[in-house]
Amino acid sequence: MNTAFVTGCTGLLGSNLTRLLLANGYAVRGLARDPDKAERMFVDLAPEARERFTVVEGDLLHLSTWADALHGVDTLFHTAAYFRESFTLGEHRDTLWAVNVDGTRTLLEAADAAGVARAVHTSSGGVLPHAGPGRTLDETDEIPPDYDWTGNDYFESKHACDRAIQAFLTTHRLPVAFVLPGWMFGPGDDGPTSAGQLVLDLLDQKLPAVPDVSACVADARDVALAHLRTAEVLADDPDRWRGERFIAAGPYTSFRALVDTVEEVTGVPAPRWTVPIGLMKVVALGQEWWGRLTGTDPLVTRRGVQTLAVNSPLDSSKAEQVLGVRFRPLAQTLRDTIRYYHQRAPLPREPASVAV
Ligand SMILES: NC(=O)c1ccc[n+]([C@@H]2O[C@H](COP(=O)([O-])OP(=O)(O)OC[C@H]3O[C@@H](n4cnc5c(N)ncnc54)[C@H](OP(=O)(O)O)[C@@H]3O)[C@@H](O)[C@H]2O)c1
Repeated sequence: MNTAFVTGCTGLLGSNLTRLLLANGYAVRGLARDPDKAERMFVDLAPEARERFTVVEGDLLHLSTWADALHGVDTLFHTAAYFRESFTLGEHRDTLWAVNVDGTRTLLEAADAAGVARAVHTSSGGVLPHAGPGRTLDETDEIPPDYDWTGNDYFESKHACDRAIQAFLTTHRLPVAFVLPGWMFGPGDDGPTSAGQLVLDLLDQKLPAVPDVSACVADARDVALAHLRTAEVLADDPDRWRGERFIAAGPYTSFRALVDTVEEVTGVPAPRWTVPIGLMKVVALGQEWWGRLTGTDPLVTRRGVQTLAVNSPLDSSKAEQVLGVRFRPLAQTLRDTIRYYHQRAPLPREPASVAV
């Protein structure tokens, strides 16, 4: 039986990947900072799948305490990252580097030493440069060393991580390939990430307006399949696919289309106003100020708005052709996401009554 190790098994992507691997007959060891959270998330597994799933308690910042669990692993899927929290107020740069860059490098070194056969790393479409008008980015796009990250420490850390992996590949045996997701939505978003939070805020009709921006939007289950298929091609021909990047980003979708689709599948009215990104930054500044004053989480932050502002169209056709990945319709993703929130308890917040 194939044994997989999934970091971030309690995350939006990692939980869907864990389920997919189990459905495909793998034995899965899932790394979780909070094992109780993992047990809650996978409580619905069929007994036969549950037998093949082991929760490994651990933090990327304390690798030595759980590194033994890498022995006997065929494929490492590294989905964990310091991500959600980095968009909240406060200073996150040191943690971004400790977890995303140093944490990944030491994890791959430990996996290499433990004899793991291959690894798939979750990168991000955000490591690619801003395309500019009329350009779509693909895997041939490299990032110039002087690329302006416009203060987006998260994207910069993901980029530094990818560079660290490229350096690792020149000195180590372990073959690693990259999957670059777009903005993911889907069931299993217990965090929630910004995507799940957006859906919950739309259901609660909290947003007065939406920004005039677009981003590539993908279902986390389709991105999970891209990870599984990447592992398969890597197993078939490690020399061919070592260091390879696969964009799995989904269709370029306007924020307006996104919120209108939530309205379409739930009947909850979407915000009517679409405002320029500059105005949204001013709103975010006001929200941050209010959040600091009251000790509450702002609805939008300048980091979040900035992340949306730099999203370029990305071409996922290589993943479609080589890996056979398809991206399901957005309405289906949003319907399943909302259904998931309805079925799970406790909810991060009770959504307004919706007909899904
Ligand atoms: N979501 C997107 O739109 C998007 C787009 C492009 C790329 N990505 C990348 O996709 C990957 C998965 O993201 P996601 O959307 O699934 O985010 P997520 O739901 O926030 O999941 C992140 C996972 O990483 C775990 N984690 C965080 N810090 C850790 C640490 N120090 N040690 C061990 N585990 C840690 C989290 O554990 P807890 O459950 O305990 O928090 C969680 O399981 C990340 O690499 C992210 O950079 C995401």
